Amino acid sequence: MIFHASVRSNQMLRKTNLAVWKAWRSWKLSLHSSTVGASSGPGPLDRTENASVSVEKPPHTPVMLKEVLHFLDIQPAQVVLDMTFGGGGHTKAILNTVPEVTILALDRDPASISLAQQLAEEHFGRVKPLLGRFSELESLLSNMNIKQGSIDAVLLDAGCSSMQMDQAERGFSLSKDGPLDMRMDGERYPDMPCAADVVNTLDQQALASILTAYGEERHARKIASAIVEARRVNPITRTQQLASVVAGSFPAAVAYARKDRLHRPAHVATKTFQALRIFVNDEMNELHAGLRAAQAVLRPGGRLCVITFHSLEDRLVKRFLQGDDLSNLDQYHFSPTKQGTRKEKLVDGKRDGSIYWLPLRRKVIFPEKDDVRENPRGRSAKLRAALRR
Ligand SMILES: C[S@@+](CC[C@H](N)C(=O)[O-])C[C@H]1O[C@@H](n2cnc3c(N)ncnc32)[C@H](O)[C@@H]1O
Repeated sequence: MIFHASVRSNQMLRKTNLAVWKAWRSWKLSLHSSTVGASSGPGPLDRTENASVSVEKPPHTPVMLKEVLHFLDIQPAQVVLDMTFGGGGHTKAILNTVPEVTILALDRDPASISLAQQLAEEHFGRVKPLLGRFSELESLLSNMNIKQGSIDAVLLDAGCSSMQMDQAERGFSLSKDGPLDMRMDGERYPDMPCAADVVNTLDQQALASILTAYGEERHARKIASAIVEARRVNPITRTQQLASVVAGSFPAAVAYARKDRLHRPAHVATKTFQALRIFVNDEMNELHAGLRAAQAVLRPGGRLCVITFHSLEDRLVKRFLQGDDLSNLDQYHFSPTKQGTRKEKLVDGKRDGSIYWLPLRRKVIFPEKDDVRENPRGRSAKLRAALRR
């Protein structure tokens, strides 16, 4: 049985949050003895709704496209790795602007890879779809005889795609009712826990730890307690059911007062959904694996662009590009001040990035106001660009 391989191998997670790890372990045992979904626990999620994910949706609008094209500076006939093909927005723009470029198009979502296959047929030989996770990239490339250190440019546009968000049956969106799923891999690993498994199975302390760590949710304990109360009555299997449970844990005045970073009204369950999505897809460890993979596949002088959507991810990227050794760090608390062992390069006694990376801009790059107006989903995007030394 395939059991969330990334969680199983996640040493950092084990070390840094015993409560969560213990809960996972007991759940794993319960999976082995087939007790998930037994009469004493929550009912299993009906995953049949997810069986045929449409690929007809309009593609994701690429975030910070101008900046990505500028910093990647792709030349004719170069080889580019798009680590997050999604709806193919960035890949299509690259194909349309650079002659004879070859794009390796990776995504863990089979629905995205179906789109990449359609694109590969339209651009014969120029798009090579790769179904898999960042942590599987090395073996995928070696199966294609692509050598380490041979790729000219890498793009990693983290998070989930509009296609995933817009399809209620994928369970990512709190504004559309659907099964509480959130697995980016879709049905690739049928035994991999989905969000409903997490909310119905983990104990209160573990749930609170996840909401604090990955949602930076100040009211994590209160929400976790409401979830545990609610699931005693009925298993939580729908997105809007979870959204109402979370909203119900706040007084009405608080529930409607939350604002996002742009001071627009935000649903009180937004951070809960974010935290669950990150946890279900093991996104922080995957991001770290993706950055290491990019470091290995880029040739000296090759360029990397990374777009992230929340501070947890951006901190990880920033510290990776600075040369911090993240292998022993507390994943849950990527505090901006905490330092790992740094492999940095000094130029005239000043810090000049890591021995592997030269920043193309020292500071993080934000989208322009006009771009945010046209594509509000990109409002919290942050771009970092670096050159492989
Ligand atoms: C923000 S979207 C990318 C959008 C794309 N740049 C575009 O313009 O259409 C992120 C995509 O990355 C994929 N993804 C996220 N984490 C991944 C991982 N660890 N391995 C492979 N793909 C991943 C998601 O499935 C999603 O399709």
